[in-house]
Amino acid sequence: MFKISITKTMNKKLSNFVNNMQAPATLAMAQKAREVAAEGHDVINLSIGEPDFDTPQHIKDACIAAIQAGHTSYTPVPGILALREAICNKLKRENGLSYQPSQIVVSTGAKQSIANVALALLQEGDEAVLITPYWVSYLTIAEMTGAKAIALAADISNDFKVTAKQLKDCLNEKSKLVIFSSPCNPTGAVYTKSELEALAEVLREFPNVYVISDEIYEHINFGAQHASLASIDGMYEKTITINGFSKGYAMTGWRLGYLAAPEWIAKAAAKIQGQFTSGTCNFNQHAAVTALNGDMQPTKDMTASYHKRRDMMIELLKPLTDFQFSVPDGAFYLFPDVSRLFGKIIQGVSLKSADDVVEFLLDKAHIATVTGTAFGDSNCIRLSIATSEDKLREAAERLLKLFA
Ligand SMILES: Cc1ncc(COP(=O)(O)O)c(C=O)c1O
Repeated sequence: MFKISITKTMNKKLSNFVNNMQAPATLAMAQKAREVAAEGHDVINLSIGEPDFDTPQHIKDACIAAIQAGHTSYTPVPGILALREAICNKLKRENGLSYQPSQIVVSTGAKQSIANVALALLQEGDEAVLITPYWVSYLTIAEMTGAKAIALAADISNDFKVTAKQLKDCLNEKSKLVIFSSPCNPTGAVYTKSELEALAEVLREFPNVYVISDEIYEHINFGAQHASLASIDGMYEKTITINGFSKGYAMTGWRLGYLAAPEWIAKAAAKIQGQFTSGTCNFNQHAAVTALNGDMQPTKDMTASYHKRRDMMIELLKPLTDFQFSVPDGAFYLFPDVSRLFGKIIQGVSLKSADDVVEFLLDKAHIATVTGTAFGDSNCIRLSIATSEDKLREAAERLLKLFA
């Protein structure tokens, strides 16, 4: 456990708010990769956090039909009733959770849902506990509220999951919000029901603590049945479940996410959203109803592809003894610990940190990855497997050659 520090870029003309804000490392990497590609190199981009598949046709058709039917006006701030009802049905059917439409807020991406909750619950003096490695935006979102972000580090030796004891040691009277994702971006860790039950036992001892359970990778799960924290005894009143359409339905550009929460939190989130963006895109919401109620085969097929690629990459990269892998159970990333490389000089380049390794991979093998520092773990790097098998095979070959 440690206090996270952030790099500040000071410009007195700008607000403290923006000066204190970090730009996402994923975007910085994308820019670097473009620069190397512009020099004429064949860059394999493993830095991206989105499916390499197109949105399923039946969802696109539903969107076109909604536009033709004239669903082009403003919607209620928390979303159209039909979508909130479809979300309630989904949560009942797949997660065993009972919600009313008044407890659902649809937003412009799960990112906005998370920001709404953070702004609704956190303020100066509060601590937000980020189970680390965490998704990049949790830190900035938590800190923009004035709260202090505390990293609760999960170790690779425990497949990047925290134990109940670690959680208990981290919580105190200032703790207000715990944020985690399962399946996790960047580690692919998936908490089982019994692991969540153990964490819930601790959380129940802290009546002032709430939890954001980010389940956006729910459908990209290669193993056990997905478990929702809100379904565990005593957690319904303390949990804000986040989900969305970007990952499971390959709908990143549609910007659609949602939260399910106790009504007082949902109302507060909608109040905030009402001043920032209002209800999200009307016809996209109609298409989202079709996504939730329609054929899940495309989602299953995409997940089968990620699963196959995961197995392939873990096998191909086995000879890289300086890369320690925890085999991910979900999402579409590998998150190897590369700290065995630190202190080595390879091809005349001295590698001292994960940032160095990421730069080295881009310069020498033209493979774009993301430093683990962006996710709160400076021993690791993140490789996305949301790209074709051919490209992944080529990337593996380049890596093996580089570290031969
Ligand atoms: C763990 C996690 N939560 C939330 C999001 C945000 O998703 P959306 O596209 O719905 O804003 C992402 C996107 O990368 C993510 O990885």
